[in-house]
Amino acid sequence: MILPSLSPVSLCSSSPLMLQVAMFESKRILLLAIQLLFASHVFLSIVREGNAGITSVFIRSEWPSTDIPLDHEVFAIPEGHNAPQQVHITQGDYDGRAVIISWVTADEPGSSKVQYGKSERRYDYTAEGIVTNYTFHKYNSGYIHHCLVNDLEHDTKYYYEVGSGESSRRFWFQTPPRIDPDSSYKFGIIGDLGQTYNSLSTLKHYIQSGAQTVLFVGDLSYADNYQYTDVGIRWDSWGRFIEQSAAYQPWIWAAGNHEIEYMPYMGEVVPFKSYLHRYATPYAASKSSDPLWYAIRRASAHIIVLSSYSPFVKYTPQWMWLREELKRVDREKTPWLIVLMHVPMYNSNEAHFMEGESMRLVFEEWFVQYKVDVVFAGHVHAYERSYRISNIHYNVSSGERYPVSDETAPVYITVGDGGNQEGLAGKFRDPQPDYSAFREASYGHSTLEIRNKTHAVYHWNRNDDGKKVSADSMILNNQYWASNRRRRKLKKQSLMTLVGQTSAY
Ligand SMILES: *[C@@H]1O[C@H](CO)[C@@H](O)[C@H](O)[C@H]1NC(C)=O
Ligand SMILES: *[C@@H]1O[C@H](CO)[C@@H](O)[C@H](O)[C@H]1NC(C)=O
Ligand SMILES: *[C@@H]1O[C@H](CO)[C@@H](O)[C@H](O)[C@H]1NC(C)=O
Ligand SMILES: [Fe+2]
Repeated sequence: MILPSLSPVSLCSSSPLMLQVAMFESKRILLLAIQLLFASHVFLSIVREGNAGITSVFIRSEWPSTDIPLDHEVFAIPEGHNAPQQVHITQGDYDGRAVIISWVTADEPGSSKVQYGKSERRYDYTAEGIVTNYTFHKYNSGYIHHCLVNDLEHDTKYYYEVGSGESSRRFWFQTPPRIDPDSSYKFGIIGDLGQTYNSLSTLKHYIQSGAQTVLFVGDLSYADNYQYTDVGIRWDSWGRFIEQSAAYQPWIWAAGNHEIEYMPYMGEVVPFKSYLHRYATPYAASKSSDPLWYAIRRASAHIIVLSSYSPFVKYTPQWMWLREELKRVDREKTPWLIVLMHVPMYNSNEAHFMEGESMRLVFEEWFVQYKVDVVFAGHVHAYERSYRISNIHYNVSSGERYPVSDETAPVYITVGDGGNQEGLAGKFRDPQPDYSAFREASYGHSTLEIRNKTHAVYHWNRNDDGKKVSADSMILNNQYWASNRRRRKLKKQSLMTLVGQTSAY
């Protein structure tokens, strides 16, 4: 059963067999556990210590990290004069009875009207939106429309139409169930997507997953890797790229560093200019003063979106807002408390190592106190999941500085593996720190399927030769509703991370 010296390269060509290698340190790096996992789920593991995390040696980057050419069909401009393009929706209120529908018209402002209703092509309602435009160096944006559609019924399919005459376009979306502790709902989590063939693979796999809403953890188009007018052109192509999903279900936006676009060499110094014009958020509905941080409630989840690149230290608007928002969380109504941010607080990759420390120092204590279930981040172009740990006793005077096992703490998950042009972050720190449960440098996306107030099923799905393969999974026990007794019982099982098989955690 033990196959010596299997290299990642040979693994790529051996399809029925997946090998997971766990490595950790006792003076020297020791190969301690080899897990051979066959398609039949026959499973073998030898783990000496409870907290040994797993570093998967499976690395697959599939395609080169270059952007798809602009004349590719995924960027096709819809036919017709001034036809709406880049159609996308997001939640439009606090509780999921509204959507913001956005699109771009290229030739003239046109209409900002949305027609919608419960049957196809027979629209009982009309909503009127606004239109905006901006310049970026010598690039002139198209006419960007945002239209709030509210007073919707829960759990209902709506059809909508934008644009006029011959060039009008039709889509649909499903509203979420009403806020209820036992509402089931399936979220997808995507980060650092970009617009390469790997990004396309991630997007296709995400669509196959059957998830109902995307939680997007920042770094959208990577247009800022271009110069001059190409920046705006690559924002436009990205908008057309994601339309196949984003026109039909809400994408919940968090901003990343690639949205900042501080480019003084071309006279562009207003942070988030392209992003804020193009991607709306329902920030006012959660009493936020800024579109970069806000919260929504959807089905049985309360989702808090933070901005890693806006002031967050004590007394800043983001800090003041979060303090109040956490008090508004009602776990009796929304048992699941989820936080999104771009920069991970726990990361053991060489890429962006410790960049999240400043925010961790400010917010981690609240996350533990309010029993956050899971924190999703991106930024690092790889996948990583932590154990439940905290480091809130840090004291510059006493010298306390280590993360400790903490069942009241959230699980931290980094999903910066959408597939953008910068490629994978393949160099993990060695040895794997105690806080890191599973890590792998491959592209993919995650899903979080909330079953009821106590259980959610989580998967990370790797892009694997055009197939979507679940490579890390667990059952999340709700931090508020799972009883202490139940949690103690589960602890033993959680010590071993079962790869390719669902582990309790
Ligand atoms: C926006 O569009 C109007 C109407 O076409 C145009 O006059 C104006 O210059 C544009 N503004 C920017 C900032 O591009
Ligand atoms: C930090 O450690 C010092 C020295 O051990 C102690 O006096 C102080 O109370 C600690 N501060 C906090 C905030 O825990
Ligand atoms: C919640 O869902 C889990 C997993 O599907 C199931 O085992 C459990 O019985 C459910 N609990 C309730 C109260 O329905
Ligand atoms: Fe980033």
